Amino acid sequence: MKELNLKNKIINGDSLKELKKIPKETFDLIFADPPYNLQLKNQLTRPDRSKVSAVNDEWDQFENFKKYDEFIYSWLSECKRILKKKWSYLGNW
Ligand SMILES: C[S@@+](CC[C@H](N)C(=O)[O-])C[C@H]1O[C@@H](n2cnc3c(N)ncnc32)[C@H](O)[C@@H]1O
Repeated sequence: MKELNLKNKIINGDSLKELKKIPKETFDLIFADPPYNLQLKNQLTRPDRSKVSAVNDEWDQFENFKKYDEFIYSWLSECKRILKKKWSYLGNW
């Protein structure tokens, strides 16, 4: 099987499909900024009382918490597989 050359590459695609193509234990670090599932029915404020804005973009729409959990589990479990054993994960949420 031909080895994938992933060094300095940007893959623009569906992470749920693309991550599966990457061999196990490839990376030292993964940084992710995934969808937050941040639709708000009421107002949400931070401890400093500033208002949190909802995300209304299509990419952040999930039917329910279960669907969001399934989405998160899908790509995170692939991240775990492709990280080296001494790994790090940085998430922006
Ligand atoms: C919180 S935003 C990150 C924005 C990014 N950090 C930026 O500054 O443009 C989440 C992003 O994940 C993308 N996204 C959602 N589902 C995805 C998937 N299955 N594969 C790849 N990207 C996805 C969305 O299109 C959105 O741009």
